[in-house]
Amino acid sequence: MRLKDKIVLVTGGGSGLGREMGLLFAREGAKVGVNDVRPEAAQNVATEIERAGGVARPFVADVSSSAAVRKMFAEVLAAFGTIDVLVNNAGIGRTRDTTDLFTTIELTDDDWHKMIATHLDATFYCTREALRVMIPKKAGRIINQGSIAGTAGLPFVSNYCAAKAGIIGFTKSVALEVAKHGVLVNAIAPGFIETPMTAPLEAEARQWVIGNTPLGRFGQPHDIAAAALYLASDDANFMVGQVISPNGGWTTA
Ligand SMILES: NC(=O)c1ccc[n+]([C@@H]2O[C@H](COP(=O)([O-])OP(=O)(O)OC[C@H]3O[C@@H](n4cnc5c(N)ncnc54)[C@H](O)[C@@H]3O)[C@@H](O)[C@H]2O)c1
Repeated sequence: MRLKDKIVLVTGGGSGLGREMGLLFAREGAKVGVNDVRPEAAQNVATEIERAGGVARPFVADVSSSAAVRKMFAEVLAAFGTIDVLVNNAGIGRTRDTTDLFTTIELTDDDWHKMIATHLDATFYCTREALRVMIPKKAGRIINQGSIAGTAGLPFVSNYCAAKAGIIGFTKSVALEVAKHGVLVNAIAPGFIETPMTAPLEAEARQWVIGNTPLGRFGQPHDIAAAALYLASDDANFMVGQVISPNGGWTTA
């Protein structure tokens, strides 16, 4: 077991990549805090983990709210006593209830702020709370969910790309700041992965994705959970401020 008795909090753990990480981390011996803004989603994954023989608790909070994040960390500490691994994973693929794409000119202030808040503000708020626990104990792992959107860029989602690129810059800075305290901060930058986020993509968009992916297919949630497990484990003891990108070859940079 690679995470025996480690306390892990996965934000956005109620679906897709976060769910997969929670299940995998629990199988590796971790006690998993499953955060989600959707109470049922958090509860369902916590139940799924427990049914599989693991230990999990749901923590319902909107991580784009600083106050909600503070309250959630107090609840996690009350339940588990500490936090060893934080995965900043919560995210949204769109700010409106449509799969239509928008040019930058068409983005509203709300489209912009909601995207930045859900990804970048949330990553900052959760990281700040986690560091308050990890720095004094001189140990911890923080894994941030980036995207090829933040490294290579994607057209018609400039707000999403800005949020993900911001997360990568934030990762590198915090990593350099806290490495000397024994806290290792790294990021993952997935390519397109089959999850509820990408499920609504229409046929033309799916073909575009497949055509731009040298492996000729979408990735699976396990591809990302495995990278997260590596970054959370002792195998990654020398990883500081790195971006691992399981992306089927979309970008090699
Ligand atoms: N699926 C992909 O192709 C892909 C690729 C690159 C990066 N990502 C990133 O991976 C992360 C997970 O994506 P996914 O594909 O699993 O999506 P998903 O929609 O399946 O899951 C995201 C989860 O985050 C939760 N969430 C959203 N806003 C929240 C908030 N404010 N507070 C708490 N929880 C919130 C949602 O309720 C949902 O359960 C996201 O950050 C996404 O941007 C996904």
